[in-house]
Amino acid sequence: MNKKTIDDVALTGKRVLARVDFNVPLDDGRVADDTRLTASLPTIRRIVEQKGRLVLVSHLGRPKGEAKPELSLKPVAARLSELLGQSVAFAPDCIGDQAATVVDSLKDGGVCLLENLRYHKGEEKNDPEFAKQLAAWGDIYVNDAFGTAHRAHASTEGVTKFIDTCVAGYLMQKELDYLGGLFAGPKRPFVAVLGGAKVSGKLEVITHLMDKLDAFLIGGGMAFTFIKAQGIEIGNSLVEPDLIDTAKSILADAERLGKKFLLPVDAVVAKDLELRSRPKIVDIGAIASDKAAYDIGPKTAHLFAEQVGLARTIFWNGPMGVFEHELYGGGTRVVANAIAMATKAGAVSVVGGGDSVSAARQAGVSDTLSHISTGGGASLEFMEGKILPGVAALDDK
Ligand code: 3PG
Repeated sequence: MNKKTIDDVALTGKRVLARVDFNVPLDDGRVADDTRLTASLPTIRRIVEQKGRLVLVSHLGRPKGEAKPELSLKPVAARLSELLGQSVAFAPDCIGDQAATVVDSLKDGGVCLLENLRYHKGEEKNDPEFAKQLAAWGDIYVNDAFGTAHRAHASTEGVTKFIDTCVAGYLMQKELDYLGGLFAGPKRPFVAVLGGAKVSGKLEVITHLMDKLDAFLIGGGMAFTFIKAQGIEIGNSLVEPDLIDTAKSILADAERLGKKFLLPVDAVVAKDLELRSRPKIVDIGAIASDKAAYDIGPKTAHLFAEQVGLARTIFWNGPMGVFEHELYGGGTRVVANAIAMATKAGAVSVVGGGDSVSAARQAGVSDTLSHISTGGGASLEFMEGKILPGVAALDDK
C-alpha cells in the first residue's frame, strides 16, 4: 500500500480523529455482532499505547440526517469499552458543544466515541462546513473505515481537506494489502468464485477481472442469466432478461481469452422456497417450467471444489444458493470447505464482505480463510478497479 499509516506519524499527546466503521447490527440495544469493533482494535490500541487522545467517529445505519435513537452509537461505546478494557467516553453529538466538552476532557491515551455522523445531513452530502467542524477534533486524521471507503462523505473525504496529516489505520492497511495483493502478481491459478442473486451486481467485477484471472466459477441466482444466454431453458429460475446480451458477450470474451468460465451443470430445484415444496436435483437443461433453482447441485459442487483445489489464489464473493435456507445451503458449504482446504494447503483466499462472510461463518471456515473483508460494497468496488475516495484522500508515502 502506498499510503502513510499510523506507524509513520508521532501520535503522543496529539488529538487523533479516527473514522471507523462501527456500522454494526444492534439487537435490543446491544451490539449483536462486534466483528467490526474487534477489527479496528489494533489501530485503537496502538493510538492508546502511543498516548494519543483518540476521538472515534462512525455512522450507524442510514438515519438520513435525523437523530434516530434506535441508531445511536451509545451501545457501541459500551461494547468497545468492554473489548478495550478501558472506559470509552460518549458524546451525544459529533459536532458542537457537547462533542467539544468530551473531546477537550480527553487525557493522553484516552478514548471517546462521538454520536452517529449520519444524524447530520452534511455527512453524506460531504458538506465542507460539516467536514470542517469534524476536523476541529483532530491534529491527525486516521481512516480505519475500509467498509465506508467507497463513500465520498464528510468524514471519509471532506475532512481530509482541513487536517494536514491524514493516514490509514491498520485495518485499512490490511484490507488494501490483501485486496491489492490479488492484483499484484497473484500466485496462479487465480480463481474467482462468484455467486449471489443478481448478475447486475457483479458485472463490473467480472469485466475488470476478466484478463487478470484464470477461472471463474459462477453459482447462485446470477448463473442463470448466463445459462439462459446459452439458449438453455431455466424454468422459473432467477434471470435478468435485459442482461442476456451482456452475459453473451462476457461468455464470448472468456472464450476468446481462453479463461475457464464454469457454470452449474446441475441444480437443486423446487416450486418455491416453502418447506412443503420438496427439492429435487436435476441437470441443467432439465429444469421444469414451474420449478426454480435454489442451489447448485452436487455435480457442480464437486466440479467447483475440484477447481478451487487447484487454485493458488481465490477470491470469493457471493453464496452458491439460498444458503440461509437449510435445504439450499449445501452447495455453498461444499465450496466454502474447498476454499478452506485450499487455504490450508497454501492458497491465498480473500472473501468479499456481505453474504459470503455469513456463509463462511455458517460453514465454520471463517478462521481458516486468509482474509475476510469487513467491507461489502467497498471490497466489491475495489475489485471493480474503482478508486475508493476514502483511500485516495490519505497522504501518500
Ligand atoms: C457497510 O455496512 O457496507 C458500510 O458501513 C457502508 O454503509 P452504507 O452502505 O450505508 O454506506
